[in-house]
Amino acid sequence: MDVLGIDIGGSGVKGAVVDVRQGHLLTERRRIPTPQPSTPEAVADVVAEIVAHFDWRGPVGCTFPAVIKHGVVYTAANVDRVWIGTDGRKLLEKKTGDPVCLLNDADAAGMAEMAFGAGKERAGIVFLLTLGTGIGSAVFVDGALMPNTELGHLTMHGVDAEDYASDRVRKEEDLSWEAWSARLDEYLHLLEFLFSPDLFILGGGVSKKHEKYLHLLRTQTEIVPAKLQNEAGIVGAALAAQALAGEGLR
Ligand code: BGC
Repeated sequence: MDVLGIDIGGSGVKGAVVDVRQGHLLTERRRIPTPQPSTPEAVADVVAEIVAHFDWRGPVGCTFPAVIKHGVVYTAANVDRVWIGTDGRKLLEKKTGDPVCLLNDADAAGMAEMAFGAGKERAGIVFLLTLGTGIGSAVFVDGALMPNTELGHLTMHGVDAEDYASDRVRKEEDLSWEAWSARLDEYLHLLEFLFSPDLFILGGGVSKKHEKYLHLLRTQTEIVPAKLQNEAGIVGAALAAQALAGEGLR
């Protein structure tokens, strides 16, 4: 079955048609810069543009970097605050004319990694962390997702963990790989202390450079890089939405 997956990020909105059985993109990715300010109307117009680009009629899966419950956006750490309280699903359905499944970006990436990537056939407690502008988290227990965990907002040294150990902070503060990985290691130890996971999957753009820092991490928990990298959000969004055509996950 084919589903359109769209990944809404702070800098770009990316979409592609996905074969949800194989976890492959069937088309080139279409990327449009996220409008600034990233208000609900402006972002929804871009999503509708991507739907029109693919001439798509059918289920659409859409990620968003916030807590989402039943299509409603509850937080806005790295997007316009007007989103808080918006029924994003309703808005996107109105703009696109298609049934939409809206979910947290890290949860979507995690679903893709569990189905087709580094978490495939992994039981136990698996954490997928996306290290980018923020830190996103997706937590799975024997393959079942506990959504909206928001572990990038745990406090470390008086600030959000994502303002201490994200890839954005590495770049902003021009941290060496050693200095940044020490921060990341501290964060992973905190998660390990709190949750005793079986596996950490590290995703986000920086997972491509894992050979620079993975060997510097010292948790007891096994750590692996994500496999799907910048396709994970699109594939996970499509996976979440495939149920719209059948069992009806919203
Ligand atoms: C947001 C999360 C999101 C993460 C990665 C955080 O700032 O609160 O919802 O998953 O960034 O984009």
